[in-house]
Amino acid sequence: MYSDRVRLPALLDKLMSATEAAALIEDGMTVGMSGFTRAGEAKAVPRALAERAKAQPLQISLMTGASLGNDLDKQLTEAGVLARRMPFQVDSTLRKAINDGSVMFIDQHLSDTVEQIRNLQLKKPDIAVIEAVAITEEGHIVPTTSVGNSASFAIFAERVIVEINLAHNPNLEGLHDIYIPTYRPTRTPIPLVRADQRIGSGAIPIPPEKIVAIVITDQADSYSTVTAPDADTQAIADHLIAFFENEVDAGRLPQNLGPLQAGIGSIANAVMCGLLESPFEDLEMYSEVLQDSTFELIDAGKMRFASGCSITLSARCNERVFGNLERYKDKLVLRPQEISNHPEIVRRLGIIGINTALEFDLYGNVNSTHVGGTKMMNGIGGSGDFARNAHLAIFVTKSIAKGGAISSVVPMVSHVDHSEHDVDILVTEIGLADLRGLAPRERARAIIENCVHPDFRGPLKDYFERACAKGGHTPHLLREALEWHINLEETGRMLAS
Ligand code: COA
Repeated sequence: MYSDRVRLPALLDKLMSATEAAALIEDGMTVGMSGFTRAGEAKAVPRALAERAKAQPLQISLMTGASLGNDLDKQLTEAGVLARRMPFQVDSTLRKAINDGSVMFIDQHLSDTVEQIRNLQLKKPDIAVIEAVAITEEGHIVPTTSVGNSASFAIFAERVIVEINLAHNPNLEGLHDIYIPTYRPTRTPIPLVRADQRIGSGAIPIPPEKIVAIVITDQADSYSTVTAPDADTQAIADHLIAFFENEVDAGRLPQNLGPLQAGIGSIANAVMCGLLESPFEDLEMYSEVLQDSTFELIDAGKMRFASGCSITLSARCNERVFGNLERYKDKLVLRPQEISNHPEIVRRLGIIGINTALEFDLYGNVNSTHVGGTKMMNGIGGSGDFARNAHLAIFVTKSIAKGGAISSVVPMVSHVDHSEHDVDILVTEIGLADLRGLAPRERARAIIENCVHPDFRGPLKDYFERACAKGGHTPHLLREALEWHINLEETGRMLAS
């Protein structure tokens, strides 16, 4: 049994229950688990670990690719298992624990985690737990719907637990391209010059004797929770498409725009869906997570190839894609996140990075992570990996949040994830501000004119003019700069109504 999924016969001896495998994880360990944007996470062992911790308390440092599905971050938090968590999450229970200080969260650029482990700046995982569709004849691990950090976790860990998940289409094998950078000081360039290129192997190469447990599971990934495009996201997409058309006409972008990256969440997904109605053909993605919009574009014949590190789909899209994988297989590749997000590649390929801001300020500094400057939302994810090195760093957001209580354009951001130096284009449903080549005062005028909701435009203009009267290269009224955020904290609205 399972010899088609565990093709190295010697490893069949390692089959055991999730409870037995979870017992290999000890209090105080650093554990690296598969999982990226609720795709391809190890499922049974973390659940068994949470169960065990209820009777026998233990705490670990947990590293993953990005967020976990199936409420695992919630279960691990509630069971008190998480002492430290990195590099990203989207779970409301964990978010609360992070914000009350009971879980130490390290919010990292997603390309950076395994690089820091490789260079001994972060502790290596003691044990890795990796979801797979199969183990090959050589004992190599074939990941499922995400690669994330799984390859390096398995390579660095002393011991590896593999979860073979029968719920995934075995035809996922062949989709992955595992490339691990060489070590400094003799590191060589990553030999990737096209989004559709394969430069590595189809499975994670580790010595099979490191595999200490194999657990059979049969549970699907969680569906993505992106909401459908609405009038505002359609307007954002329209502004962006008009901008792209202009860039193509001016000879600054090729006809197919070049490789696109789109961030997580409903807004970025909706913006990509907007490309369905655009004149652009032969689109390519070199991105991190591939959401519904990627497959809508492929199905419409608009997109020729998509490179990512995970696939996260809504219930509506899931069966269509994973039930018909052969239809998409020559148009897709999944890579480790340090390669999908690598600054070297992002700069080389000239990527257009489209990510979502919570808020941005008059000068184009972007906050993607901290509500009110203090409360963690999800994390920076890959947005910084892309924005700093992109050909065009674009940030999108609706101009207001929470029914108009909040302006997404503020005098000064309450936390900076992407500084003005990394941000080229800002878009809201109101319009688009092209900040390239502009000085701070010019940037502010472009933003006020194009991006701010009418309810906030007057007050923001007033702030800017009074700040300019005081002087400075980047004018501010320091006593007022965060007043809108203080109002929000005290009254639930940024401006008195
Ligand atoms: N202040 C407070 N809350 C705000 C806000 C602001 N300025 N702007 C938006 N929000 C709230 C929304 O009201 C919404 O709240 P809800 O969940 O209670 O409804 C929530 O933030 C999400 O906003 P939404 O408009 O639905 O956008 P989204 O789903 O596209 O998510 C981010 C937006 C910024 C949270 C998300 O894109 C993110 O985490 N980004 C950082 C990581 C990243 O960019 N990764 C991409 C690399 S590939």
